[in-house]
Amino acid sequence: MTIKTPDDFTDRWRQPPNFELDVSFDYLFVPAVDVLDNIRKDEEVRFTILGDDDWQVRMDRTAAFRTAPIEEIVTWPFRLVHFNLNRFYGDLLSGFQEEVMIPWRTHLSARGFTWQRLAPILFLSTAGASSTYHNDNSHGLVWQVHGIKTFHSYLDPGKHLSPEAAVVGETTAEEPPEHEAADRQSITMRPGDHLWSHALTPHWVTTESALAMSVTLSHGGLCHQGRFSERELALRAYWDKNPGEAWTHDLRNVRY
Ligand SMILES: [Fe+2]
Repeated sequence: MTIKTPDDFTDRWRQPPNFELDVSFDYLFVPAVDVLDNIRKDEEVRFTILGDDDWQVRMDRTAAFRTAPIEEIVTWPFRLVHFNLNRFYGDLLSGFQEEVMIPWRTHLSARGFTWQRLAPILFLSTAGASSTYHNDNSHGLVWQVHGIKTFHSYLDPGKHLSPEAAVVGETTAEEPPEHEAADRQSITMRPGDHLWSHALTPHWVTTESALAMSVTLSHGGLCHQGRFSERELALRAYWDKNPGEAWTHDLRNVRY
């Protein structure tokens, strides 16, 4: 197991922009197409069929997604997410807990970090598929496993969306709004690449290969020596005013 984070990680995680991380886990995934073939049949999977075909084609594909031949599925534009991966720790993701989650938690813990929730989320998509434009409440360690994706965000997210607006989810749209190309940070990720995605910052992801798979380790309520990141203070302030909603963080309504 090799886990390294830059010496300045404990400073850099506090504010945007996102940055690439030199981390490597020993874990070897089964081929992405096999992950897809297994995970598409799970009752907790969420997927969206995309593409310019008429709605009837998308409806038919949606109905057939779990049962159609896998060779056919991979030719359809879609995005898929699963955020309850511990269902697979015994088989499809055997060893993931021991070789990824525990070493990463140990690494963070030894550097003075604490958190409320740290769980992996799996994303699969095909050529032509993009994520929505959205922000997450959590910090993400994005790990590109198979294929190529480009992760787009803003160099200065505060110029585009205040943390307060991010907290109430003013972002979500299918496409990003008009913006200057120079404001954007677009990082192309190949297998083995890692990126730190800052909480409450708008982003969107495009698929640049036939099939792409990534895993995000999602960190809710991350603190370093008792301090949250700066943008996360807006979330805490919101929960102070709306304490009844704080628990809904646990629902993990991941936008993708
Ligand atoms: Fe996201």
